[in-house]
Amino acid sequence: GRGIAVFTSGGDSQGMNAAVRSCVRMAIYLGCKVYFIREGYQGMVDGGDNIVEAQWASVSGIIHKGGTVIGSARCMEFKERPGRLKAAKNLIKNGISNLVIIGGDGSLTGANLFRQEWSSLLDELSSKGEITADQKMKFNHLNIVGLVGSIDNDFCGTDMTIGTDSALHRIVEAVDATTSTAFSHQRVFIIEVMGRHCGYLALISAICCEADYMFVPEEPPPDNWPELLCATLIQARNAGQRQNTIILSEGAIDRQGNPITGEMVKKVIVDAVELDTRVTVLGHIQRGGNPSAFDRILGCRMGAEAVIALMEAKPDADPVVVSLEGNQAVMLPLMKCVEKTKAVGQAMADKNWQMAIDLRGKS
Ligand code: F6P
Repeated sequence: GRGIAVFTSGGDSQGMNAAVRSCVRMAIYLGCKVYFIREGYQGMVDGGDNIVEAQWASVSGIIHKGGTVIGSARCMEFKERPGRLKAAKNLIKNGISNLVIIGGDGSLTGANLFRQEWSSLLDELSSKGEITADQKMKFNHLNIVGLVGSIDNDFCGTDMTIGTDSALHRIVEAVDATTSTAFSHQRVFIIEVMGRHCGYLALISAICCEADYMFVPEEPPPDNWPELLCATLIQARNAGQRQNTIILSEGAIDRQGNPITGEMVKKVIVDAVELDTRVTVLGHIQRGGNPSAFDRILGCRMGAEAVIALMEAKPDADPVVVSLEGNQAVMLPLMKCVEKTKAVGQAMADKNWQMAIDLRGKS
């Protein structure tokens, strides 16, 4: 059979293990040899023990674990051609010409570049005598399928990325916990959530936790937000509420593009309305812990689909990304999705907020 390798890259997320497990088992079921590449692209560049054949039992007892059991890394070497050359050699040495990559948009962009360069990498390896003419012919196509693993849900093309649902569970639990102490002391809690430049985690958790106010990068608040915020808090107190919750996305900015931080929001509240206020930054707690049932199923489905897509791919097929559309797993062109994702970032950099919201909405 054709060698398939699976690896995880970039920031980890809950549900990656379910995806790894499902890739391995579907590949074995279809009669393929399947490999783990440990430590992401770094393991591909370094080779050796980082590339190991997986067995049916190698992926037992991992579906409930957070993170990724095969390790992940943000790799600088792979960003340069010499690193990619080493990686190509290591794949060929192990008989691998199919890759399943589980990662965020940066990692998926790297995969696409690798795929585009593949034949020139083979030319160079063969001219240096590092691979045989036979190997060059046998491995002249590299097929790639991507799965999006990220808690941020910031990738255009898929309704949900692997890990987002679990991160939301973590956030909701944490906010609920602050709400009870806030109630006792009649406090305001500002909770900073992750998401990089994407407000999805903030938006959904704000709804789920009855937040009084929310800050997201895609829709910076009006310049008079301090007054609006304080008025909202006071109105809630006047209506009998004993506490307030404010959800702040870590990427929140004002209309000039300057960051809005938890301490800034706190100062506004304390100075203007003298409410007892605390800031809680949830941090990596959101990315840890066991994956939710949804993320386990999402990982399982996407992993299986990825292997099937590889086996059905035409030799020169462009890389695809397994996406969730409604309740359907669909294959979309990887590069188009990456480009759309970059367009959202560009719209935000251009302060074209409406366009950023529209692009997110369509994705
Ligand atoms: O992309 C996932 C994410 O957790 C973001 O939400 C956050 O901004 C970033 O990664 C944190 O990166 P690191 O784990 O390198 O600190």
